[in-house]
Amino acid sequence: MKILAIDTACDETSVAVVKDTAILSNIVWSQASLHAKWGGILPSLAKREHLKRIDWVIKKAIHSSHLTINNINAIAVTVGPCLAIAGEVGIKKAKELAQKYHKPLVAINHIEGHVLSPLARPKNSRLTHNLQFPALGLVVSGGHTDLILINEIGKYKLLAQTRDDALGEALDKAARMLGLGYPGGAILEKMAQSGDSEAYTLPLPMSGREKEGYFSYSGLKTALWKLVESEKAKNKSLLTKKQIQNLAASFQNQAFEHLTRVISSVIREKPLRVSDLLVGGGVSNNLEVRKRLRKMGQGLGIKCHLPYTKKLCGDNAAMIGVAAYFKALGGKQEKNISKVDREPRARIDQPFFWQRPNG
Ligand code: KG4
Ligand code: ZN
Repeated sequence: MKILAIDTACDETSVAVVKDTAILSNIVWSQASLHAKWGGILPSLAKREHLKRIDWVIKKAIHSSHLTINNINAIAVTVGPCLAIAGEVGIKKAKELAQKYHKPLVAINHIEGHVLSPLARPKNSRLTHNLQFPALGLVVSGGHTDLILINEIGKYKLLAQTRDDALGEALDKAARMLGLGYPGGAILEKMAQSGDSEAYTLPLPMSGREKEGYFSYSGLKTALWKLVESEKAKNKSLLTKKQIQNLAASFQNQAFEHLTRVISSVIREKPLRVSDLLVGGGVSNNLEVRKRLRKMGQGLGIKCHLPYTKKLCGDNAAMIGVAAYFKALGGKQEKNISKVDREPRARIDQPFFWQRPNG
């Protein structure tokens, strides 16, 4: 089955073509540099840029897949969670294509896309994952820190979420405090690689209270802010490069320690008999977090599955295509295309359009 997938959930205009779980093309037009000067994502700018680029990105994705629109069996699109006016651009375009070319439309939850991103495989590869269900999913991105029970593909339960900032958001804020720009997760990682995580003492979030099953990063962020201010005052000026590296390493260390402690605690407390963990989202680019998750997994007899390429970690449409493939296999395309609409606060465990009485 060949699917054209569109994702405009946030600040990437992305279109992909997948054949089952194999990626034939995956074009990602990032607006990150345009939003950088605002220190965050400006929804109106995101919408404007999506509108400007979407037709070109669709054309490029089809061309790179060596198919034509006539060879495509279905159109998939992210309906949420998303920045409402950004997500709307992709939804409108997907509906137009589905109606014009008489293709079924598959509505996809963006978080489901991230969870299933490790199942994507390169074109012509036989890569398979022998997953056992129930399995676990972890999405660590700019907007989400979600631990998910995957009873089977398409049947999810949210096990733990963040109480305040998402992990990626916390890393971005820490990077900004250290003068590293926006979005700062990747540059913070680079700095941390040359830093000493023991050089400073930062609090471990929810220490001893991991059983409560929440992630929380705002206390750690405030502690970093205080530490940065006191270090700056000591220097009587800006931070030195060494200080930045050490502060980055200390922050990452506690942020990731908290992440793995809560996950382990949820698994032990339930207890959950799982042997596979699927990890996705922009923060899963980070080598240190990958190492920690693998180490945690070894201790619990759980195998970590990560996307085969870093391009699948951040926002991209190929992951939406893969999720749509499983959904379409189960006959879950939308019955009434005109009713498909943006769902900015969609949860991965909520009923989908095709399941709703008026869907
Ligand atoms: O999944 P994503 O591209 O977009 C959302 O759906 O949010 O995730 C973006 C987040 C940002 O917070 C960014 O700083 C973070 O992923 N990120 C990283 C790295 N690369 C991107 N965080 C830590 N280390 C990285 N190498
Ligand atoms: Zn995302």
